[in-house]
Amino acid sequence: MSDAAKPELNSSAVALVTGATGAIGKAIARQIAARREYAVVLACRNEERAARVVAEIRHATGNAKVRHELVDVSRKASVDALATRWRGPLHVLVNVAADTPRRRRETPEGLEVQCATNVLGYFWMIQAFSEILRRSAPARVVNVASYWAGDLDLTDLEFTRRRYSNSEAYRQSKQADRMLTVAFAERLKPFGVTVNACHPGDVNSTLSNSLGFGGHESPDGGARTPVWLALDQALQPVTGKYFEHLRETPCPFARNRQAIEALYVACSRF
Ligand SMILES: NC(=O)c1ccc[n+]([C@@H]2O[C@H](COP(=O)([O-])OP(=O)(O)OC[C@H]3O[C@@H](n4cnc5c(N)ncnc54)[C@H](OP(=O)(O)O)[C@@H]3O)[C@@H](O)[C@H]2O)c1
Repeated sequence: MSDAAKPELNSSAVALVTGATGAIGKAIARQIAARREYAVVLACRNEERAARVVAEIRHATGNAKVRHELVDVSRKASVDALATRWRGPLHVLVNVAADTPRRRRETPEGLEVQCATNVLGYFWMIQAFSEILRRSAPARVVNVASYWAGDLDLTDLEFTRRRYSNSEAYRQSKQADRMLTVAFAERLKPFGVTVNACHPGDVNSTLSNSLGFGGHESPDGGARTPVWLALDQALQPVTGKYFEHLRETPCPFARNRQAIEALYVACSRF
């Protein structure tokens, strides 16, 4: 029996964090695990790194209800398999996993990696877990996006027409995350599931280095806003919003309803 086949025993709440072997994701998982009433599942693609982080977080928090599941969020079949083998409730899903290769790369299915990971990875995780989240309501989804976002071209999501630049593809993907937040928030609102997006903070990481900048905030600082969105009781009714540094921030991408729906439909077709 895989770990996921085991229901989360003796826990009142369950959180699932993707990208938890990364700088910000690990800090998010640890901060949630520090709230000992949470069982925390780290959704990672690398078994060895995942096991190491699980041990680290268990040691740091004293929370034994921390474990990992293997998933490649850039592959729909892998995401669907995780949701299918999941047992028990899910109260908090934090989408963090992202990649920004310097050269254009494709997944084994032939999808451009940033589109597959940063956009479809978020889309597929919410879609695959939406029934489970609905059954577990009240439940929350937090999409870790970025203030560094823009220039989304709905006709070229995979940079097949434009010359690939990892920063342009990244900005596009983070705009998409903020737009999909609105699309899913509307769809899941009637079922008691909220969906919000945030900028975490500028943190030194593989991802930020690949984009050519460092980052002056600590991973724990970067985790603060996502964890606040995931756990703060006062935010329970809030949905479809975008936050920076613990503040709701107007999002220009949330205004274009037509583009939001077009993006949702485009993602559904992959
Ligand atoms: N760092 C910043 O300054 C900054 C600023 C704004 C927004 N953000 C956002 O914050 C989030 C985390 O960024 P970070 O800086 O912490 O990046 P990071 O340290 O490079 O971590 C990225 C994480 O994503 C995982 N990942 C990548 N592709 C995956 C896949 N196909 N399937 C499963 N997991 C995958 C990586 O796993 P491996 O360990 O296996 O590689 C790693 O755990 C991203 O969404 C990013 O857009 C970061």
